[in-house]
Amino acid sequence: MISNEELMIKAKEVSDMAYCPYSEFPVGACALFESGKYYIGCNIENSSYGLALCAERNAISNAIASGEKTRLIKIAIYSPKSSQCFPCGACRQWIQEFSQGYNAEIILEDDKQGINIYYIDDILPYSFKLV
Ligand code: THU
Repeated sequence: MISNEELMIKAKEVSDMAYCPYSEFPVGACALFESGKYYIGCNIENSSYGLALCAERNAISNAIASGEKTRLIKIAIYSPKSSQCFPCGACRQWIQEFSQGYNAEIILEDDKQGINIYYIDDILPYSFKLV
């Protein structure tokens, strides 16, 4: 299984592909599923600013469009512009949706300490669920 460090390297690599001429805030994400497969995504902006797509949702969309049926277990997120680039609220809800009750790991890099791990249940408490 790919390591947390390797997931972070993939997130860094794909952050270079970000299309972010408006914010100039590149983000990359690499999502690992129970199948052992991982999927990358970067943020993609638009001149109609509200249409920006976050890196995390792009990575998860890539997984779903690739036919991934297992649960999301980890996601590494990186921005060269931020120490510990936490996912936005919408992306937290997406991470919860596709981890299907598994307490998915959020892998972030701190400028000083290196990799830190957080859990979706901690960063999205009292969340909306249909069941
Ligand atoms: N962004 C992400 O890609 N992920 C997040 O979780 C938060 C924000 C992007 C959206 C936009 O292109 C840029 O970062 C600045 O908000």
